Amino acid sequence: MYLQRRTFLATAGSAIAAVAVERFGGRLLAADQLAVTKRIATTTDPPSPYNAVTTFNNFYEFGSDKGDPAKHAKGFKPRPWSVAVEGACGKPGLYTLEDIFKPHPLEERVYRHRCVEGWSIVVPWVGFSLGELLKRFEPASNARFVEFVTVKRPEEMPAQRARFMSLLPWPYREGLRMDEALHPLTLMAVGLYGEELPNQNGAPLRLVVPWKYGFKSIKSIVAIRFVEKQPVTTWMRQAPEYYGFYSNVNPGPTYSTFRDQASERRLGEFFMRKTLPFNGYADQVASLYTGMDLRQQY
Ligand code: MTE
Repeated sequence: MYLQRRTFLATAGSAIAAVAVERFGGRLLAADQLAVTKRIATTTDPPSPYNAVTTFNNFYEFGSDKGDPAKHAKGFKPRPWSVAVEGACGKPGLYTLEDIFKPHPLEERVYRHRCVEGWSIVVPWVGFSLGELLKRFEPASNARFVEFVTVKRPEEMPAQRARFMSLLPWPYREGLRMDEALHPLTLMAVGLYGEELPNQNGAPLRLVVPWKYGFKSIKSIVAIRFVEKQPVTTWMRQAPEYYGFYSNVNPGPTYSTFRDQASERRLGEFFMRKTLPFNGYADQVASLYTGMDLRQQY
């Protein structure tokens, strides 16, 4: 019901989504398009082909090759789903997927996405502002950070079954400072290209933080925690010399041991592009970091 399936032609908003889908990916309209009420393009770059966005993925729970998530996530069950809201807030509890998104009109947001591995894509996400969702849970004044946790289901996620040499410590965890989480660009996504999120892209609910490296955009979220201390994220735990808590896209020098981040390859393009500070969103977000040394705080 939340998808308002088959009603898309009846609403003006959906007509916008339908046009967008036709124009973007050359995709035929599916019968179950998400009803989108608003469309925001933060870039004039054309969206990446649907096939690139849905078959070249990082979702280590399904394997580390780029094609693994699309191949191995077919049996993953994104319904029924619930999210545990915990920690320093007025309304903790276990919320169903529907409780989570029903009050929020869905928007299409076209964002650039830059992976720390040096590739990038442009994605027409469908979702709503994370900040609007978090405010419903009434964060307490000592909630300075928000932690997010991905589902742990070894029976459906093959890489979580590895007995030794696990790729990563599971479950996958990420975090944001409260002002980053409340920033209007930060998106809770439920779809892309006008349709529900494919499993390999983080169904049924994933974060999208477009000015940070892609690994901050945690997939298939089952817990949201309001905490006082900066959480330890999966990649910080794995290799702190490479991955910091902030992980803002930064083509300049940092103390991170990671190789040069000055350029990137947009999937489907031949020539490299210059990587932009904050992935091109500096006007909107640089002020969040006034007074911080972003070489140290990478
Ligand atoms: N979330 C989980 N749970 N597991 C992961 O391995 N990979 C991250 C991020 N979220 C990852 C994750 C990385 S490295 C990137 S670049 C993006 O998801 C990739 O998102 P996409 O496959 O939708 O492009």
